[in-house]
Amino acid sequence: MDWGIANRINRILKPSTGRTVMLAVDHGYFLGPTSGLEEPRKTLEPLLPHADSLMLTRGVLRNCVPRESDIPIVLRVSGGTSILTELSGEGLTVAMEDAIRLNACAITLSIFVGAEGERQTLLNLARLVDEGERYGIPVLAVTAVGKDMVRDARYLGLACRIASEIGAHLVKTYYCEGFAEVVRSTPVPLVVAGGKKIPEKDAILLAWNSVRAGAKGVDMGRNIFQSDSPIGMIRAVKAVVQENASVDQAYGIYQQARGGRK
Ligand code: 5RP
Repeated sequence: MDWGIANRINRILKPSTGRTVMLAVDHGYFLGPTSGLEEPRKTLEPLLPHADSLMLTRGVLRNCVPRESDIPIVLRVSGGTSILTELSGEGLTVAMEDAIRLNACAITLSIFVGAEGERQTLLNLARLVDEGERYGIPVLAVTAVGKDMVRDARYLGLACRIASEIGAHLVKTYYCEGFAEVVRSTPVPLVVAGGKKIPEKDAILLAWNSVRAGAKGVDMGRNIFQSDSPIGMIRAVKAVVQENASVDQAYGIYQQARGGRK
């Protein structure tokens, strides 16, 4: 692997653990002003010191992240569809030149295996991997799940394996029963998305189960910024991912941060 790609991956997956807590705040690129992210700057400010890496679009990066921040950026470079249309028809929305200008540590796009846009989004991935290899920038493939897809180990294993075969350096997917099998059959590091908001203890358990099964951390958004204590949640998830805390220890961190309220 090229030194630049390896070094950028090491900025995202912390060398001391090989893991990351990636804070995902890219949802607006197809959802608009999602709950909890209406004012990205306000959401981000208190969370940035706790995140290991940050996944977002160039618009939010340029306008809402302080320039003095040294957080590694995972820049979303796909889009072109909205929640009102067929989501799987994504194209590429950012030139590699601009990703470099923004000092991205990695670029990311969604692939829609089994959906209408499957072919195009896989070819998007192939193109980005070629460009990423040319400039030393790793590519994180997001295995987006179509409305009719079942999030089981068979389907997610298929999507993750295809992404890594095409050359993705990192893959983001969902936790599922039998997740260790998805990890085993994907020869690049996997990070796990949080998905829709669930009770805080369940989200902490999801992070715990994921790293126990071999994930290299989480790429978590709504279960952090839609929590009643976003700081409590990111600190709890970080304790699980980076410090091997138990679910109860991490839940205690969340509860303490929210002031012991029931
Ligand atoms: C949207 C994304 C999100 O960044 C990803 O799903 C993680 O966020 P969440 O934990 O809210 O699911 O890629 O397409």
